[in-house]
Amino acid sequence: MPYTVPKLNDYSQSSLAKAASECIAACQAEAAQVRNDADLKSFRDRWMARKNGILTQINDLWLKGAPKDAKREAGIRVNELKARITELVDAAHVSSSTDSLAADAVDITLPGIRRPIGAEHPVIKTMHEIVGVFQKLGYSVAEGPVVETDYYNFESLNFPPNHPARDTQDTLFIAGQQSKPQRERLLLRTHTSPVQIRTMEQMRPPIRIVIPGTVHRNDPPDASHSPMFHQIEGLAVDTNITFGDLKGTLDHAMKALFGSNVKTHFRPSFFPFTEPSAELYVTCFICGGSGKRGSDPCRPCKQTGWIEVLGCGMVDPNVFEFVKDNGYDPKKVSGFAFGMGVDRLALLKYGVDDIQLFFQGDVRFLQQFA
Ligand code: DAH
Repeated sequence: MPYTVPKLNDYSQSSLAKAASECIAACQAEAAQVRNDADLKSFRDRWMARKNGILTQINDLWLKGAPKDAKREAGIRVNELKARITELVDAAHVSSSTDSLAADAVDITLPGIRRPIGAEHPVIKTMHEIVGVFQKLGYSVAEGPVVETDYYNFESLNFPPNHPARDTQDTLFIAGQQSKPQRERLLLRTHTSPVQIRTMEQMRPPIRIVIPGTVHRNDPPDASHSPMFHQIEGLAVDTNITFGDLKGTLDHAMKALFGSNVKTHFRPSFFPFTEPSAELYVTCFICGGSGKRGSDPCRPCKQTGWIEVLGCGMVDPNVFEFVKDNGYDPKKVSGFAFGMGVDRLALLKYGVDDIQLFFQGDVRFLQQFA
């Protein structure tokens, strides 16, 4: 039976003392039963609650109910009792937290919690691989801003104002630039090519650089498009650089990246900043160039056996004109350039069929490349 506060039949010293010691014994017994924080709370409330806690009841029954001549004596007793009960309740707090320390004890013989270690994102991994191939050929890495001016993104790359090639870039322009002259207007760079000019402004020839980075285009996201993606640009300028150097360099790089069996193949193309320009194809590294996977058609190369991997060409003399004063006289130097989409290559390399997966941050997807 839980303790209840009895009515006092008489207020003699002895019956007050007896009632007080029974009350203390009950409180001690209950304190010993406290096992956790919830127990402790109900124990404290039961004894200490202002409204109808046991101490309040004692006050009401034993003190307020005392006859006039016993009030003083009862008051002293009740005060002593209150002090003692308060001590017991406070002590119960201490003994309870000792219990919970025991409950929280760590068994150091159990195996630990394994924290997953991060890994390179497949696109960044591909980027590092490509950059690494060119670093071994003596290229250094250059970088430039993602928010670019019209001058570096277009004009200095031989896209004159209103050139139709500007439309094909689906540019994302920064708002509120109309009051500036066109060449100063800001935009999100649509390719890494502006860093060609930026680097040639800073460094005199000869140069060999690769330029990794993010670029943006106003493309709605789908399985093969993303408004943000990654490119690697390359530029080599020296005296007597020829299209043969371009072919040899890229053929070597493709074999280093996709295996020594791949063959390369150049088809004529157009870019305003190179002349002549080409697209580079490699034999499909999925089907080995046959266009078939077993009896099924090979999808990545659309059964042609060839995959387009980049655009390239000989630097147009008009581009050199913009940096002529820094040693790039088109009569004295020549160079080649190339640019490739890293995300597309990562898709092909890992057999991923939706570029969006690269940017959704789903650990279940990304884990597979760790
Ligand atoms: N900037 C081009 C693009 O984004 C790619 C490119 C093609 C870069 C030819 C080059 C190049 O440097 O020579 O489509």
